[in-house]
Amino acid sequence: MLPYFPFGQRFNDKMGTAPLPESDRLVEVDAHYKAEIALKKQLLTELPAYYFQTLPGHETAQWEVLELVLQHLARFCPDWFSLWQQGKQWHWQNHLLAEETTFTFGDPGTLPVAPLDWVGRQVQEDIVILAGADSTLVGGQLCFGNGWCLNEKIGLPFWQIHAPIMPIVEPMIRAAQKLMERLPVGRPVWRVNWSVKVTDQLDMTSRHTPALDQLLADRLPSLTPNMIGSQLFLRIERQTLTRLPRSGAILFGIHTYQNRLANELNTRPDAALRLAQVFSTTPPAMLAYKGMTAFLPALLTYLDRHVPPQTAEAWC
Ligand code: HEM
Repeated sequence: MLPYFPFGQRFNDKMGTAPLPESDRLVEVDAHYKAEIALKKQLLTELPAYYFQTLPGHETAQWEVLELVLQHLARFCPDWFSLWQQGKQWHWQNHLLAEETTFTFGDPGTLPVAPLDWVGRQVQEDIVILAGADSTLVGGQLCFGNGWCLNEKIGLPFWQIHAPIMPIVEPMIRAAQKLMERLPVGRPVWRVNWSVKVTDQLDMTSRHTPALDQLLADRLPSLTPNMIGSQLFLRIERQTLTRLPRSGAILFGIHTYQNRLANELNTRPDAALRLAQVFSTTPPAMLAYKGMTAFLPALLTYLDRHVPPQTAEAWC
């Protein structure tokens, strides 16, 4: 079952952000932790400059992210992570990975890789830093991007990052731009977005787009109302935005969760109704952007058949 289910009564054309309370987690650790960290490490070994990039001049922000994330993990998951700080001497224990690291805070020479790259290997989240008045993407470790990659977006301001969807949801992106400008220190926010895929491959960065498009084309004939539930995956991103106190940059964290559509319907009685309500009210251009146009009719038929009788009435 997905930990979040961002489907309500209709397509949400608002930002969908909410304050992230102090008691909530900035980063989440789940049963896939070891497998996802191993995958990250493999990708970062194979193509280091594709999955991790930073622009010069944002070292303070990188260390701030490291500090925030390590302190957070040690506080929320003390059985799995321990942090000792004595002045600038820090000692980190990751019990899940059986790894220990001693380093001097602020001195990149004491870590095996750049601070942001290193801390990204402690969490399942993709982590991105945006800085400046126009929230420019200045660095990130992005292994599980959904249809984008750092090469395409580094150095671009927030509005330009979203250029492909500006014609579809311009008011939402304008509101988000304002939120980025005004986000206060100590008041992080979060939101969840969604997509529907033919595979649960985690790394959907742009280099895989041609192969993923081909896979969808190959699978289309089997995406019938009878089969589609076992063929499709719901893919959601829990996104957090946190203003960093010293640099003033923003940390953008993205935790990707996935589940097979049929499994989600089996565990969540109102899933079929809520998904049908959202998909049937999503603007056609957004459906096309999300790659859902070709299978939408079969998907809606499948969902219709799975709405339990007691909830069906509400849909009619
Ligand atoms: C409140 C904040 C934000 C909102 C409301 C927002 C909204 C959206 C929406 C609606 C999409 C279309 C895809 C989908 O719905 O699955 C999208 C795509 C995207 N967003 Fe955001 N976003 C936000 C923050 C960010 C931030 C901070 C980044 C920083 C890197 C970012 C990077 C992207 C990228 C790279 C895409 C894909 C664009 C493409 O296809 O080239 N978003 N965003």
